[in-house]
Amino acid sequence: MTDRTYTLNTGAKIPALGFGTWQSAPGEVASAVEYAVTHGYRLVDGAYCYGNEDEVGQGLKAAFAKGIKREDIFVVSKVWTTYATRVEEGLNKCLKSLGLDYVDLFLVHWPLLMNPNGTDDRFPKLPNGERDIIRDYNHIDGWRQMEAVLATGKTKAIGVSNYSKKYLEELLPVAKVVPAVNQIENHPALPQQEIVDLCREKGIHIMAYSPFGSTGGPLFTAEPIVEIAKKHNVQPGTVLLSYNLARGSTVLAKSVNNARIESNKTIVDLDDEDKAKIDAYSAQLTKEGKLQRFVYPPFGIAFGFPDKP
Ligand SMILES: NC(=O)c1ccc[n+]([C@@H]2O[C@H](COP(=O)([O-])OP(=O)(O)OC[C@H]3O[C@@H](n4cnc5c(N)ncnc54)[C@H](OP(=O)(O)O)[C@@H]3O)[C@@H](O)[C@H]2O)c1
Repeated sequence: MTDRTYTLNTGAKIPALGFGTWQSAPGEVASAVEYAVTHGYRLVDGAYCYGNEDEVGQGLKAAFAKGIKREDIFVVSKVWTTYATRVEEGLNKCLKSLGLDYVDLFLVHWPLLMNPNGTDDRFPKLPNGERDIIRDYNHIDGWRQMEAVLATGKTKAIGVSNYSKKYLEELLPVAKVVPAVNQIENHPALPQQEIVDLCREKGIHIMAYSPFGSTGGPLFTAEPIVEIAKKHNVQPGTVLLSYNLARGSTVLAKSVNNARIESNKTIVDLDDEDKAKIDAYSAQLTKEGKLQRFVYPPFGIAFGFPDKP
């Protein structure tokens, strides 16, 4: 288990390993959160959009009842795209579900606005079935609201998620508060080095999501990952989590299975040979145009990612 932490640009500590809750089904997520938090995880990542924050809150409450202290757990939530013009309302909803009076970090989930008065609170649709997106929205306006909620004390830090280099370069010259974090998909099949490098230069901490390739963990069988796992006598998942720590990032691992929640706490120090092998794999995928982005909702917006300009 790693007790490693990093220091954010706010001065606060953030754990290196976090617990993910996306796609954790009702009836499973409360006990998974309770198990994770009472067995060493110190960061829980949730979002209004996941539709399960009430249960995440129940899991936290159960862990607190067993003696875990609120101030020892770093809780992350995100404002969903239908709330981009009502950020404080979005944060209030998250806090109510979580049963907390503050989160440690509140993120812009994706930099766009979906119709706040549409057919659904989370996924409004147009009559033709496409997502109901407000096209003339400027993500800088959303960041102004994030800066305002920081001042309320209901979140200790603010950050972004799914921000490309292009979007960061639009935001940073006008931001009054530099985001503490950019949470992005990150693994050997999608290193997004240009975003990681820019964030490092600007003091923005990277939180890596979908380290196993998301649902079902498709990266567990990637050849260099299997080879490195054999060499260290660990599971492929350990290599994938350790890769992100070796890059100086926080990494989020999701599971609703207690044995897997346990095994995901194992981290190894990758040596230079391991890192070179993974970098060569990433470079080869880049060269062949075979980078893999596993999480890409059909917004139909050009976010400017290296693999999806
Ligand atoms: N900001 C964003 O837009 C964004 C997007 C995606 C994700 N996230 C965050 O990042 C977290 C992690 O990403 P993710 O959920 O997409 O995917 P992930 O953590 O890469 O992979 C989760 C999948 O791997 C399985 N798994 C976990 N540990 C395993 C192990 N040791 N052996 C075998 N299978 C294992 C899980 O199944 P079981 O549960 O059955 O074990 C699940 O199917 C999310 O939960 C969420 O909190 C954020």
